[in-house]
Amino acid sequence: MTTAHYAVFGNPIAHSKSPEIHGRFAAQEGADIEYRRILAKPNAFAEAAAAFFAQGGQGANVTVPFKTDAYHWVNELSERASAAGAVNTLIRLPDGRIRGDNTDGIGLVKDIIENHAIPLAGKKILLLGAGGAVRGVIRPLLEQSPQSLTIANRTFSKAQALADEFGIEAAELGQLPPNHYDIIINGTSGSLSGQVPDVRPDVFGKCILAYDMVYGSEPTAFLTFAQNAGAQHTADGLGMLVAQAAFSYELWRGFAPEIRPVIEWMKHGRD
Ligand code: ATR
Repeated sequence: MTTAHYAVFGNPIAHSKSPEIHGRFAAQEGADIEYRRILAKPNAFAEAAAAFFAQGGQGANVTVPFKTDAYHWVNELSERASAAGAVNTLIRLPDGRIRGDNTDGIGLVKDIIENHAIPLAGKKILLLGAGGAVRGVIRPLLEQSPQSLTIANRTFSKAQALADEFGIEAAELGQLPPNHYDIIINGTSGSLSGQVPDVRPDVFGKCILAYDMVYGSEPTAFLTFAQNAGAQHTADGLGMLVAQAAFSYELWRGFAPEIRPVIEWMKHGRD
């Protein structure tokens, strides 16, 4: 069996869990793969990616801060990567051209509806933030037919511009209605450093799920805030991370890995 080569590009990248996750998927498939972390210099994503594929790389993931660079670099884009304006998955096509896809949004949706068993159809969903992370999940959320999808952001003009682009609602962070939203998803980058968007606690009064796209070994400050404010259920982004990886793996290899055992293994370090 020849080894198939994959990688994840980012900066920083040392913390990335993707090699472990894809290693578990390969074990499920019984496949021989190598998956490594590649640290690219801030302005050198294209060079690094070109070198990887020139050396026979089959596919790759792309993480912060290169998802937009990847979007501009690829030879062709999937529809959802086009809508997201970002690429997290690079696929080498049989003719050697590189296709860009984006599995972040479908990873989020799969995690919520399958792992957390909360349907999105008919729900009132609030998205906090208006950067790349939020843009990437809007379309897959809309495909689940929520009753409404609202974007609120510290800088309102950015929420308004994004909402206009997708034909959804924008709201001021400080003027969100109380006891209204069923599902509240935090896509602000401040969450990485323990900052919580400035939202009143009563916004969580009817919240069945507060979700943070970020994850860590401890609950994020946002999730603690949401729980104290009355959110019934909280979830961090670990399931989204594993699910987006599984969709990438399937795009590369046509094998759909099971994600639950990998999430458990990530949480507890065992099967
Ligand atoms: P990413 O690609 O991770 O989404 P980004 O495009 O820089 O990163 O967007 C970061 C988002 O997090 C923005 O919506 C930002 O709000 P502003 O548009 O007002 O800057 C939001 N954000 C970051 N820190 C925040 C904080 N402490 N409170 C609220 N929102 C925050």
